[in-house]
Amino acid sequence: MADISPFLLAEQKKTLAEFPLHFILSDVNDLPEAVIRDHDLVILNENAGDFPTAVNVPTSLLCRDSSTQDDPGLSEIRRLFETYSFPVPDGDTFNFNLGAVETTEKLCRAKVPFIFISEHSCEACVPGAYQGVISVSAPGNPERIPLKGHDEYTIRFSHLLRVAGQFGYRILRGPLADFFKPDFNDFLMRFLKRRHSTKQEHEILHHFVEDLYQYEYILLTGKDGRTGKNDNHAKD
Ligand SMILES: C[S@@+](CC[C@H](N)C(=O)[O-])C[C@H]1O[C@@H](n2cnc3c(N)ncnc32)[C@H](O)[C@@H]1O
Repeated sequence: MADISPFLLAEQKKTLAEFPLHFILSDVNDLPEAVIRDHDLVILNENAGDFPTAVNVPTSLLCRDSSTQDDPGLSEIRRLFETYSFPVPDGDTFNFNLGAVETTEKLCRAKVPFIFISEHSCEACVPGAYQGVISVSAPGNPERIPLKGHDEYTIRFSHLLRVAGQFGYRILRGPLADFFKPDFNDFLMRFLKRRHSTKQEHEILHHFVEDLYQYEYILLTGKDGRTGKNDNHAKD
């Protein structure tokens, strides 16, 4: 269990006291590759949106002849766009999940056999039958979520998938509703259709069901589930 926050790491220690866990106080990006390599599965649940996001990046920066040499952050963004052939975004500026893309690259480079990432998505979608009943936001450009004391950004999962694809990972992607499948019976549908109700229980239900689709997950599996490393574990 790695966390950048001493306070939240201490909370997690309390919650998980009965489990044989090793706790590491660190920014995930500072973890040495040797530590990451030692793990068969990495779970980033609701973390990637906290990682640094570059906002209002000029799209012109992605032109070959624009100079980024004075700004290491901009050079890094350009490197990632070139390496993984991310499509050039529409509009004059865009937001970019720099930390989430770099972390995915780091995990894939370390050949972690299984990687699970889930977060608010900026590319969420709702199955046809429930469109108009469940609404999600999907502008394609990472959106700011203002929280108490800090901001988070929604994740453009297609970027993470391009990175994983280039490292040869198999990919499973979907909404959290794949795990928590709502029973869309008449009762629930009636609640969901009361969009303008001011009743608290209607609002809670709406929010919960919408989040099941607003959140996406990806499960990345290395070649043969092991990416050829840690072969000594294969017989366990
Ligand atoms: C929304 S909480 C999710 C916690 C837990 N994964 C869960 O599902 O309940 C986000 C956590 O990510 C941690 N975090 C944010 N940025 C981080 C970073 N760069 N490195 C390590 N942890 C980070 C925060 O301190 C916080 O504990």
